[in-house]
Formats: sequence, structure tokens, C-alpha cells
Amino acid sequence: MIKLPGLIDPHVHVREPGQTHKEDWDSVTQAALAGGVTMILAMPNTKPPIFDEATLDLALDAAKQKARCDYAQFLGAGPDNADIVSSLAPKAAGLKMYLDSTFGELRLDDMTLWIPHFQTYPKEYPIVLHSESRTMAAGILFAAIYDRPIHIAHVSLKEEILLIKAAKEKGIKVTCEVCPHHLFMVSQVSDNERGKKKEGQMEVRPRLAKQEDVDALWANLNVIDCFATDHAPHTLAEKDSDNPPPGFPGLETLLPLLLTAVDLGRLTLDDLIQKSVVNPRNIFHLPEQSETWIEVDENATYEIRAAEQFSKCGWTPFEGWQVKGRVKRVVLRGKTAFEDGKILVEQGYGRNVRALEME
Ligand code: DOR
Ligand code: ZN
Repeated sequence: MIKLPGLIDPHVHVREPGQTHKEDWDSVTQAALAGGVTMILAMPNTKPPIFDEATLDLALDAAKQKARCDYAQFLGAGPDNADIVSSLAPKAAGLKMYLDSTFGELRLDDMTLWIPHFQTYPKEYPIVLHSESRTMAAGILFAAIYDRPIHIAHVSLKEEILLIKAAKEKGIKVTCEVCPHHLFMVSQVSDNERGKKKEGQMEVRPRLAKQEDVDALWANLNVIDCFATDHAPHTLAEKDSDNPPPGFPGLETLLPLLLTAVDLGRLTLDDLIQKSVVNPRNIFHLPEQSETWIEVDENATYEIRAAEQFSKCGWTPFEGWQVKGRVKRVVLRGKTAFEDGKILVEQGYGRNVRALEME
């Protein structure tokens, strides 16, 4: 049995408000705890999106009643809300800017719409960019021009990780995260696998990349600041429909996949703790969770099964994968929150880590 700090996942789509048939604050925080994650940062592309005080309150009220692990909520950058979101910054995880197309309504196409956010959002909180390929290069230029920290979400390409490395070497304030699916999956599924998994299930943004890209991520692990799931639950019926939404669930598979990589010598346990606890805490200025840890049976070998998961979405792209390492127990602020497959804390036990009453 090994003991690790509770993990922080800086990129989670909770789906509440608005799409609670996919997931809600209760189910997502149960999935988090089962995965050894004790703090989640929630993305703003809900229905409605979280882009002002009223919508932030909608999300935070639901979280306050239902969350079982700790959390903070991102704000979304819109075409004309730069002043509003910057005034709300102390209450939020950070500002998310959608600069490429994906699920939801928050896309900012025109670069003139980026400027007020880069000028105004307080520099002590990071701006997180959904920006792929050349859009990411533009985002890094903005960080340099406006001299402020940015965090690049879900890096997937060789050209991206190499440019981030070069930008860091120049002293530009850029950090980044990588998702397990971009580290462990490639776009060219074999014919055999294509038969088993329907195309819609494999839809995700950024798309799964080529082997060369995956290799570049592994070769540049030292450039990657955080692991993040981009937990993006959609139901199996939606994924298998004619218009499948992009996204994979990931909270319950993050740690087993990473521990399997540790077992194979591809990653050290220290890397795992740095990128899943220490760096996210530092980048997003999150408080330390006292008396919080997870206990893991590092020798448990088993197959991933959606049927055993707490997420409402009911499927996983890693179905049937053989992994090594199982979360046995999670202690959150002195209380056993999960043990032997059971959630043991009530709805509402989770704390907003940006709330003033946080000790
Ligand atoms: O695949 C994705 N799904 N990528 C995103 O950026 C958004 C997410 C979602 O919200 O479903
Ligand atoms: Zn996302």
C-alpha cells in the first residue's frame, strides 16, 4: 500500500447547471473521490455558460449543496464580459478562454475580443486557453505582449509542446497540462479496434493525435506542468448518435493509468505527485488540504470497467484496459471519503476553495 497526497484535477466538465443527465456536482465529485482526486476545477461551458455573477452563483449554489470533494469554478471569457469577470476573479478558479471550436457556446473567434481579457484579468490568477496548434502560438504571443501568465489546456501535438518549451526558455509565463488520453491513445485505431469502438465514442477535442505527437509528449515530460483529465462526460447514446459530442470521461481512470506508467518505468511517482498535486496547486494558487491523502494498492491488477464507475455517463474510452494500481481509501480533511469502492461523505461535504470562509 502506498500513501499519496489527494490529487488535484484542474480541468473537469461538471455539466451542472444545465446538462445534469450527463453529470452533476454529486456524481462528478463521487467519480473524483473514487479516482483519488480530492479537488476539482470546474470548466464554465455549462448551460448557461458561467460568465457573470448570476451564472457563477448558479454553479456555486449547486456545488455547495451537492459536492463531496473540494472545488473551484472557472469563469468563461465572452465577447463583452472582461470587466465583469475580472471583478469576480477572487471567487473563481481562473478565466477560461475558448479560442478554438469545441463543445458549448463560449468561442472567441476574433482576436480583438481577446485583448480586453488579457489586459484586465488580474495577473495573480491564470488565464486558461483552449487553443490548438497555431491558435496556441497566438495565445503565447498575447502572454508575452501583455506580460501575464497563461495556462495551455490539453496539449496534444509535438509542435505545441516544442513551442511551449521554447516560450518557457524565453521567460514567457506559460504553463501547460496534458490529458491521459493524449498520452496513452493515438488517432490511428486498428481496423480491429474500429470494429469494437464506434467512431463517435472516439470524438474528443483536441482530437487524438499521431504516434509522433504522443512520443513528443513523453520525450518532453519535463515541459508538462500538470496532468488534467478534461473529464467531459456525454452519455453513450449521445456518443453513438449521428452528431456525437466530443469528450471523454477521465476522473476514474487518471490515477490507474498513471500508476501503470509508473510501474512500466515511463514516469516516476515523484513526477506524478508534482504534476497532479504540487504544480496545479502552485499555478492556480490553491490552498493545501489539511489531513488529506489517498491510499493505493499499487499491486492490484485489473481491467477498467465503466460498469464500476460513479460517473453518470456510463462508458469509458479505456474499457477493458489492463491497469495496475487501485485507490483503496481517500481521506479528505480528516474524514474517510471513499473506501473499498464506497463513497462515505455526504453531499455538501466539499468546500469551495475560493470561498472566504476557507480556513
Ligand atoms: O472533447 C472535449 N469536450 N473538448 C473540450 O474542449 C470540451 C469538452 C466538453 O465540454 O465536452
Ligand atoms: Zn475541457
